[in-house]
Amino acid sequence: MAFPKIIIIGSGLSGLSLSLFLTRLLPTASIKIYEVRPSTHPSTSGTINLTPNALRVLDHLGIYESLIPQGFNFDNLTLLNHQFDFLASIPIAGISEFGYQSLRIERRIVHSALLRKVAERSSQIEIIYDSKCESVEESDADVTVNFTDGTSTTGDVVIACDGIHSTVRKSFVKDPKNFNPKYTGQISIGGTITKSQIQEFNINNNPYPLMMFGPESSTGANFVVWPYDRSGDKFTFFTTLSKPDEDNDGWKSYADGKELLKSIMQETFSSDGSPWNEMVKKTIELSDAEGYAFWPYYLHSIPEKFYSEKARVILIGDAAHAMPPSGGQGAAMAFEDAETLAYSLAAAFTAESGSDINTPHGREILSKWSDHRIERMKTIHEMKERMSDMRKGGSGSTSGFMFTVKVWTIWLLGFLGVLGRTRRAVNNYDARKEAAVWVGGGVMAKSE
Ligand SMILES: Cc1cc2nc3c(=O)[nH]c(=O)nc-3n(C[C@H](O)[C@H](O)[C@H](O)COP(=O)(O)OP(=O)(O)OC[C@H]3O[C@@H](n4cnc5c(N)ncnc54)[C@H](O)[C@@H]3O)c2cc1C
Ligand SMILES: *[C@@H]1O[C@H](CO)[C@@H](O)[C@H](O)[C@H]1NC(C)=O
Repeated sequence: MAFPKIIIIGSGLSGLSLSLFLTRLLPTASIKIYEVRPSTHPSTSGTINLTPNALRVLDHLGIYESLIPQGFNFDNLTLLNHQFDFLASIPIAGISEFGYQSLRIERRIVHSALLRKVAERSSQIEIIYDSKCESVEESDADVTVNFTDGTSTTGDVVIACDGIHSTVRKSFVKDPKNFNPKYTGQISIGGTITKSQIQEFNINNNPYPLMMFGPESSTGANFVVWPYDRSGDKFTFFTTLSKPDEDNDGWKSYADGKELLKSIMQETFSSDGSPWNEMVKKTIELSDAEGYAFWPYYLHSIPEKFYSEKARVILIGDAAHAMPPSGGQGAAMAFEDAETLAYSLAAAFTAESGSDINTPHGREILSKWSDHRIERMKTIHEMKERMSDMRKGGSGSTSGFMFTVKVWTIWLLGFLGVLGRTRRAVNNYDARKEAAVWVGGGVMAKSE
């Protein structure tokens, strides 16, 4: 008989990676993944930046090597001001220091690499598409998931990997309203362009990616140009703008069309008297409206612990703790959660513990895992606060004085390597070493 019965809601980055670790650690488990999307469109689009801590998890899964030739590998981020003056080069990754470069890559490529691995383990993992979870109920003995089509399924444990708008989270917390995602007032808009179209405007031949900081929100506080393929010819570019929800031209109208997105970029960066450099203006001018997209940023309150009373419902990834994309760590955290939780589940479901998770032993393991992950969020949060502060420009930056201070702060942080030090804590995280502290050596031996 298959044991334990593990149910995963959501086949995003966290759900797929968790399932793969589990097959290695719990070879008798049956793993069912329920996903609302259709099998024909399993992934969302866009590109994603993966820092060394994210890549280490993918390396442990055996897919990192296959991703290297499919994305843009780099070490340093070039910071410039709106006039294209050099501010700093920030080392964010690197083989010698962290074992990995950073990798910007299309999200669907990472997703399909994970799916291919899942297909190799089809005797243990099944993905059921077009299935929307509606609610989850746990009892002492098991947990039941109800779907919107009226069907339901029962298992030993449910892992919520259903992203920021998580349905499972609503069933899990006592006061669901307090955990509803809230629009942050910030939105990213971006598009794609090729290096050959804009290279001539990179006057000092600054190494990519370029992150430019401008004077204020109304004329654009930031503009990022970032390659995402191996040859470094395909670029994504984007900005983060403040757009209050109550605003009449609020972001909801953006869904109306791609031309609108391009015109917002033009208004922000290229209107008469714009302080922005030619690189930015030309990037927008030469870009194809069809390539534009937008992402409103949502956040939700983080629960005190990531598992339920009877330990049968567990949250990971954005379902547990979505973070603003400005820190570029959301997916990395989802991967770290998945790997550390897999070790923890393997340690919880042992014969010695009566082969169940709703036991003092099972709950103790989960509590150690959850506390550890919350501590980790705090480290990331510190870095993220600094990054988003720099990116959004924010209220204080409208005056010339504040702007100057901000620019110097960035320069100084880069110069002193302060960001670099935080990066070390972020980049060097190794789930195997971390989990070994609360998970027995027997489990870790199976992790190789
Ligand atoms: C614009 C943008 C840029 C980003 N850039 C970066 C970056 O550069 N680096 C980085 O590390 N992170 C980045 N992130 C964050 C990152 O994308 C997320 O943190 C990551 O995808 C979280 O993974 P997840 O598996 O928890 O959730 P998701 O990837 O959101 O997956 C959730 C899955 O659950 C499914 N689902 C949802 N509800 C249900 C339901 N009721 N029933 C069944 N299935 C359901 C969804 O269809 C989806 O497949 C970015 C995010 C955004 C929006
Ligand atoms: C990153 O910057 C460091 C320090 O300036 C430099 O030595 C290194 O070569 C750069 N890395 C890449 C990939 O350009």
